[in-house]
Amino acid sequence: MVIKTIEKLRETLATARRENKTIGFVPTMGFLHEGHLSLIRKANEENDLVVVSIFVNPTQFGPNEDFETYPRNIEQDTTLANEAGADIIFNPSATEIYPIGSSSWVNVEGDITSVLCGASRPTHFQGVTTVVNILFNIVKPHRAYFGQKDAQQAAVLTKMVQDLHIDLELVVCSIVREADGLALSSRNTYLSSEERKQALILNQSLLKANEAYKKGETDTKTLTKLIKDTINTMPLATIDYVSIYSYPALQEIEKIETPAIIAVAVKFGKTRLIDNILLENSK
Ligand code: PAF
Repeated sequence: MVIKTIEKLRETLATARRENKTIGFVPTMGFLHEGHLSLIRKANEENDLVVVSIFVNPTQFGPNEDFETYPRNIEQDTTLANEAGADIIFNPSATEIYPIGSSSWVNVEGDITSVLCGASRPTHFQGVTTVVNILFNIVKPHRAYFGQKDAQQAAVLTKMVQDLHIDLELVVCSIVREADGLALSSRNTYLSSEERKQALILNQSLLKANEAYKKGETDTKTLTKLIKDTINTMPLATIDYVSIYSYPALQEIEKIETPAIIAVAVKFGKTRLIDNILLENSK
């Protein structure tokens, strides 16, 4: 069932709540791929009712970013989401979510939002936390599902839920990759075949650094250089950042003390891809 208005969604969910059904929620911007579908399947396993939102959120895009051209296909998304176990697809308009005159923001402050993607996309996380908060207020889910591919987003939202005492369980699910290692992303569709081939270096460089770490290398400068050198072997790659931080607080570290994250953002042509790996304790 596709629902477009908050009123109708609230009415439908109120009935489910009266029947003591648990509600799982998967917020998305659509153009669903296997990564999203794995979240929907998990939500379906763990809840009585699954709501998937499909909303390309304008407030998380910067002025020169790809809001207008972000890929959209609501018909295909509806079929895929239903097959994966969605009961309700919430597909609101921008004015339904942000009525004219709305002027409230939710902000998580500190390093957690200012490093990594926050450095090159200064208003991005404010847009994400605001829309996710709005969606949580509308859906009031028992559990909400996000992917580890957007590791910083997962950390920021986990902090928001803690700080604001939002009464739900936030579930973070592992990255889904193509057979050749490319992390799934709706933006992969922008890549030319040559760019896609070269983009495999992201996962390869992370695995290489993880190997070096497992063999005993804990110096973050050395590991960062190893990754940068590896990525720079690809002529179409332009590095935005290669960073190693504690996780989930995202504090700078000189030596790796787990848990830590290596996160990369690299442009291939106009397409900016992100990937990451969590470093587990190897000792
Ligand atoms: O991860 C995304 O697709 C978006 O950032 C989210 C969480 C749906 C908010 O618009």
